[in-house]
Amino acid sequence: MEQNNSIIQFLLNEELRTIDFRMDKTLSPTTTVLNYVRDHAKYKGVKEGCAEGDCGACTLVIAELGENEELHYKTITSCIVFLPYLNGKQLFTVEYLSEKQNGQTVLHPVQEALVKTNGSQCGYCTPGFVMSLFNLYKTIENPNRVEVEQALSGNLCRCTGYQSILDAAYLFKDLPKEDKFSLLKEEHIQKLKEISAHSADFLIERGNEVYFQPQLLSHALEYKNEYPEAILLGGASDLALLKTKKHQDLPHLLDLSHIKELQTIVKKADYWEIGAGVSIEQLRVAFEDKFPSFRKMLDVFGSQQIRNLATLGGNLGSGSPIGDTLPVLMAHQAELLIESVHERRTEKLEDYLLGYRKTTLMPNEIITKVILPSDENQIIWSEKISKRRDLDISTVSAGFALKLTNDRKVQSIILAFGGMAAITYRAYQTEEFLLGKPWEKSIIEEAMEILKDEFTPLSDARAEAEGRKLLAKNLLMKFYLEARK
Ligand SMILES: Cc1cc2nc3c(=O)[nH]c(=O)nc-3n(C[C@H](O)[C@H](O)[C@H](O)COP(=O)(O)OP(=O)(O)OC[C@H]3O[C@@H](n4cnc5c(N)ncnc54)[C@H](O)[C@@H]3O)c2cc1C
Ligand code: FES
Ligand code: FES
Repeated sequence: MEQNNSIIQFLLNEELRTIDFRMDKTLSPTTTVLNYVRDHAKYKGVKEGCAEGDCGACTLVIAELGENEELHYKTITSCIVFLPYLNGKQLFTVEYLSEKQNGQTVLHPVQEALVKTNGSQCGYCTPGFVMSLFNLYKTIENPNRVEVEQALSGNLCRCTGYQSILDAAYLFKDLPKEDKFSLLKEEHIQKLKEISAHSADFLIERGNEVYFQPQLLSHALEYKNEYPEAILLGGASDLALLKTKKHQDLPHLLDLSHIKELQTIVKKADYWEIGAGVSIEQLRVAFEDKFPSFRKMLDVFGSQQIRNLATLGGNLGSGSPIGDTLPVLMAHQAELLIESVHERRTEKLEDYLLGYRKTTLMPNEIITKVILPSDENQIIWSEKISKRRDLDISTVSAGFALKLTNDRKVQSIILAFGGMAAITYRAYQTEEFLLGKPWEKSIIEEAMEILKDEFTPLSDARAEAEGRKLLAKNLLMKFYLEARK
């Protein structure tokens, strides 16, 4: 392995920050970005609300270099991001948005817009909203209603009410297209290029804590072989909560977030190859006009901040029965590419899942890709039922696939459900009943009765077991009614 170093470097607003974890004992690699910014850098604008990614008070904006060395902006919930994530990136705080001109504070245009629409009362949520609005302003020129709602889906306000905040975003069309960031863009790119020229694998071993962040997949595989106990870290949107909410130690982490090979989406002849490190937001954007059923699920996955962090590999790696990508991937008959230094194997998603959060992944293995077949001759459909549309986990989710014969009989069918069992699971008995039968209402009604008894779901805060069964069978009818069109 090439030389590692114990240093991370990033830009905090304009300033180059270098943290050497061997020297600086006040910081740990699992210090959150939020705590660093508030307690160490002393930028107190950013706030903590929930410490679990839910409220958006801690929203900050990251800029990073894309493939063609252009700048990409994105929001993050800084309460669930560990410091090494910043390596090679630029982090913007709310303090950096305004400027001093002739001794006077001049607000950024999005801040002006928020003032104009009276979009703040107590102000606690406001820095988070400002950062989400700023990110929207930098990424979409004249955002429409859906884009505005998507951009603000991860920010909660308990006193102003949302309309005046949304109204601020609708003023964007009248705002100047250039801001101070436009003028400083080349300078920021140059600084980021300088940092990335020195990038190397980051490794720190301190006391009981070990953190490794490689730049190459081969290094990650070698490391996982040597230290199978190391926990893989994608975007940390699941794992960080163990620290921030459950106060558990994460003694040995293998952070995959800086491996570019894992972040590509490639179209092959009749399938797509999606890197495990691709974020849910990257996937959502890439699938804008492809795989509408998949895109529909991605639209209601967490919030924009969460989607920017969460990876596809992490969604599969957690093996959660309510992971939102799993039912729809199962409907697509997706396969996982799983690698170790010794072997590469592909496995069907349903074979990979063994039990509640149990999978076939061996301690020295990493999920590296998802293979998504693009069969246009079948209808794929998805639905997520949750208590609210945005930023909520599924009560029940569904991913269905259907192929009909010319005389409208069921040639093949997949009915995959999340939230109905300990794993994402196919309703095999119902599928078998439907095979070869006419695709018509009376048959679907019979199938619904089989489906209802096929699962023994849990009762929890989201729904009673009977409620889940009812949801599942009604989802089948909804699919029938929509697939009929
Ligand atoms: C506020 C909030 C809202 C959320 N909303 C949703 C939602 O709507 N739908 C949903 O499905 N989830 C949701 N989640 C959960 C989480 O965001 C997702 O599960 C996400 O996909 C996890 O990805 P990650 O990269 O952040 O995973 P991490 O937290 O980094 O890792 C999760 C697990 O996967 C393992 N892992 C990571 N990468 C790999 C890999 N390449 N190979 C093998 N194992 C790996 C890790 O070891 C760990 O066990 C939400 C989380 C939060 C905090
Ligand atoms: S503090 Fe609530 S999302 Fe971070
Ligand atoms: S202004 Fe008070 S919580 Fe939003």
